Amino acid sequence: MAVQELDTDTSRRDYEKLAFNGYYTRDIPPPDPLITETGPGTPMGEYFRRFWVPVCLSEELTDLPKAIRILSEDLVAFRDKSGRVGVLHRHCSHRGTSLEYGIVSERGIRCCYHGWLFDVDGTILETPGEPPDSKLKDSFYHGAYPAFEMHGLVHAYMGPPELKPDKPHLDFFEMPGVQFAPFAIPYKNNWLNSHENNVDPVHSVFLHERYALHFEHQAFAVMPNLKWQLTDGGDGMMYMSVRRLDEEWIWARILHCRMPFESYVPSVWDLPRPTYYQPGFYLRRMVPVDDRNSIFFGWRAHGTDRFEGGDPRENGWNLIDMGGQVEKPTYEEKQREAGDWEAQGSVWYGVPRPDIEHPGATDGGVMMMRRALRNIVEGNVPAAWPKPEGSDGGKPAPTKILSQDSVLNIKERPDSDEDWELLGTVGEKITEVVIEGSGKFVGPERDDWIIERIKKIEAEYRG
Ligand code: FES
Ligand SMILES: [Fe+2]
Repeated sequence: MAVQELDTDTSRRDYEKLAFNGYYTRDIPPPDPLITETGPGTPMGEYFRRFWVPVCLSEELTDLPKAIRILSEDLVAFRDKSGRVGVLHRHCSHRGTSLEYGIVSERGIRCCYHGWLFDVDGTILETPGEPPDSKLKDSFYHGAYPAFEMHGLVHAYMGPPELKPDKPHLDFFEMPGVQFAPFAIPYKNNWLNSHENNVDPVHSVFLHERYALHFEHQAFAVMPNLKWQLTDGGDGMMYMSVRRLDEEWIWARILHCRMPFESYVPSVWDLPRPTYYQPGFYLRRMVPVDDRNSIFFGWRAHGTDRFEGGDPRENGWNLIDMGGQVEKPTYEEKQREAGDWEAQGSVWYGVPRPDIEHPGATDGGVMMMRRALRNIVEGNVPAAWPKPEGSDGGKPAPTKILSQDSVLNIKERPDSDEDWELLGTVGEKITEVVIEGSGKFVGPERDDWIIERIKKIEAEYRG
């Protein structure tokens, strides 16, 4: 088909069938606002505002306040001298000076301009320039959000006060003897670019192992047998990826993420043979700064022999002991060894544009996640919306993490199709026992139950 045969109503997709079509396909359509925009009043922004959201590292709160921007709102975070954490609207409610220049006080923060003093809940404690009988400070509150610290990360709740949920209760934090190193990695892209990356394990094959050696586990370069599914209730997603390591061994990996922003990333190091039910190393929460910037907050588990590999001390601000995650220091290094920062940040100026993508079979997880998010914000998935505090009698069950790695002794079948099918079958069986065990038990009891059943699967299919 020649270009001149196409009239002005011809669609972009028609032009794409022609070579040298650049002139006709140069326009870049806008992103999908429903699932990318998180500013005040947007549907996805209101969903995010129903969760406790990490906003900065505890270590960033010193004797100086910290200017932060979260969900397109300019805020200031501080820890007052009595140890309480505050997250307030950044601009002073007197005449608007930024409280990032304020004075962290014994109680609350004092504006540098005329000395108004604000408590962590927005109470205006002092208006020193006003007459002594002034009622001005008692007539309103400054904008404030509830905040607390958890394992080195400050969290804030930015939604309607009457819908504030219980604080996050994750079984990740209940593993005996385990410690948690917090990190915060700034990305120059929309949060969705990075969250959907969690369910795109094929990028690990290419970006992280064949293109550059980010992970210390060469088997990442092997294309896995992949299956994605929504987790029970539709509040999250998981994938099972199963790879053959050699004639004797296979590696089965589950990555679980929850909406809107959590993921539990398993090991990026070589695993012992055998390995039964190695839990995820990293809990990550992709927090929108605004619609073009985000921060990957999270924790790296360490401190017991269940989490060997890497260096847990290498986690903090713009620091994580997982290869290929942070911005490279020079343009040449970015070009020669791009990682997630460069790959995700350069996706159409930082925001996915579904209208001009060409997704294939290996993008099934990304498509599933976008559909799931759309469904949630349209109100079709009640289980994905946090319940208000106290709904479970004040004792919410811990959120179960399904991520894991297992390396099993299952011999290669002579027929390659049969072997590929076997990988899929073993993956499905492991997925079933991990879901069932996590539904029935918690903590070490769950681990023992699942490990015993994974061993049975290995014995059944050993060959
Ligand atoms: S602007 Fe803050 S006290 Fe006046
Ligand atoms: Fe990655």
